[in-house]
Amino acid sequence: MNLGILVSGRGSNLQAIIDAVEGGRLESKISLVISDREGVQAIERCIRHGLAYRFIRRKDFGSREEFEQSMVQALKEANVELVVLAGFMRVLSSTFLQSFPMRVINIHPSITPAFQGLKAQRQAIEYGSRITGCTVHFVTEELDNGPVIAQACVPVLPEDTEESLSERILSYEHRILPQAIKWLSEGRVKVYGRQVVVEGARYGTLPFNPDLEDF
Ligand code: GRF
Repeated sequence: MNLGILVSGRGSNLQAIIDAVEGGRLESKISLVISDREGVQAIERCIRHGLAYRFIRRKDFGSREEFEQSMVQALKEANVELVVLAGFMRVLSSTFLQSFPMRVINIHPSITPAFQGLKAQRQAIEYGSRITGCTVHFVTEELDNGPVIAQACVPVLPEDTEESLSERILSYEHRILPQAIKWLSEGRVKVYGRQVVVEGARYGTLPFNPDLEDF
């Protein structure tokens, strides 16, 4: 499956996908990486691993629609079949989403629908949650709230800072995201309204539900 990955920053989730592909655990191709920001670590990773990348910046376009159309065109030219938002800091409108119906996924650092939007880890600490986690979900026009493919739960410790909790959650993100991509590439992800079922996956254990198979 041809992947298009959208990034805005550090790109550690991009790196997890690169490692899965290079390690032979994920039979997909990273066809294009798009960053809406220059000078980010994610692009250094592309250069290091010889991946095609493009900068497409909002400020170079008169409207959000033109900006999104430009990304769609670049992704279509690269024959992208699945778009992965890996730390992409913008909300996509129907202009983009209708070009890839149920073919855009996102990783979010909370158990959705808790703590949507920015700084989900800080929100969990401030709320006093004792369990939080991460979610891979389909992207819809509602922010961080599309049908859930997979979630992992992660404990919040009394001494946690935003940084320590973010780091703990991130190690789980790096596992569920490539796994979800693999399930999608295998055609095992079935969507029934808001319910998503991964065919043949094992449900009912924690911290991952469904349980991971390859990561
Ligand atoms: C991750 O915590 C992800 O869940 C959120 O943004 C962060 C991106 O980190 N959407 P990275 O750029 O993948 O390192």
